[in-house]
Amino acid sequence: MNTRISILGLGAMGRALASAFVEAGHEVTVWNRTPGKAGDLVGRGAREARSVAEAVRAAEVTVVCLLNDASVRETLAPIVAELEGRTLVNLTSGSAEQARELAVWLEGYGVRLLAGGIMAVPPTVGTEGAFILYSGARELFERLAPVLAPIGRPQWVGEDQGFAALYDMAALSGMYGMSAGTDHAVSLVHASGGDVERFKREVLQPWMEQMLVFMVAGADVSETVPEEFNAAMQATGLETMIATSEEAGVHAELAGHLRASLWRMRRAVAMN
Ligand SMILES: NC(=O)c1ccc[n+]([C@@H]2O[C@H](COP(=O)([O-])OP(=O)(O)OC[C@H]3O[C@@H](n4cnc5c(N)ncnc54)[C@H](OP(=O)(O)O)[C@@H]3O)[C@@H](O)[C@H]2O)c1
Repeated sequence: MNTRISILGLGAMGRALASAFVEAGHEVTVWNRTPGKAGDLVGRGAREARSVAEAVRAAEVTVVCLLNDASVRETLAPIVAELEGRTLVNLTSGSAEQARELAVWLEGYGVRLLAGGIMAVPPTVGTEGAFILYSGARELFERLAPVLAPIGRPQWVGEDQGFAALYDMAALSGMYGMSAGTDHAVSLVHASGGDVERFKREVLQPWMEQMLVFMVAGADVSETVPEEFNAAMQATGLETMIATSEEAGVHAELAGHLRASLWRMRRAVAMN
């Protein structure tokens, strides 16, 4: 199915999205605030619009991928009255509340909006593992899903326009938490004179792979810790990890995630 798609924003992500749509055979128009960022897209068949209005008018579906919510507002505000009856897909990261407010603002101008969260990085856009979260009207999602599939597997997460953003940020929070842990791990090895690359390859990678499924399954909001986790043992282990950090002189800030886990285990012990 060949659809006329416009992309607003040609940063690293916008270019990757445009490229995947071109590759899939869609008729692509691109626009960027700073001209000259289309790279090889034009040579591959995309058209570069000179204004936002021109880009939106050229498309059946406009995909917005700018820096943040403020840049989306700034870009759309001057032409919002011309958007009546148009369909927009916003793949710009933002908070859940920003997504809801944007939807209300645009719907007031007769715009149909699907809010999205990209669970991919530019090199993985359009590859097998990539998926994109969408929230908004289910019927709109179902109509657009085949058109949007080339950038990543479309996954609808609810009518509430804020949910794609919420799940996106929550998933990133999990990733940054793991990053804090892996940064801390290599800092410990480095500070103690160990071979960081070897540690990463032979210990950290296989260990994280083995534990990932348990980390995700065990993620919990309750104040209790399941019995099999043995909170008292975990608390002792966390105290040892913090002591190891102090011995190695690794910044206490990096060990913040350990202190947070220790606090949770101590609270669980106190409640048992
Ligand atoms: N890159 C990733 O790994 C990744 C992954 C998932 C989601 N995302 C999300 O995708 C979005 C774009 O990311 P990116 O990697 O493409 O960022 P980027 O490379 O920094 O590009 C930012 C884009 O936003 C435009 N922009 C910034 N301020 C603007 C304004 N006030 N008015 C109009 N345009 C403005 C820039 O235009 P100029 O060229 O004119 O500055 C550029 O096109 C972000 O919301 C990001 O969180 C990115």
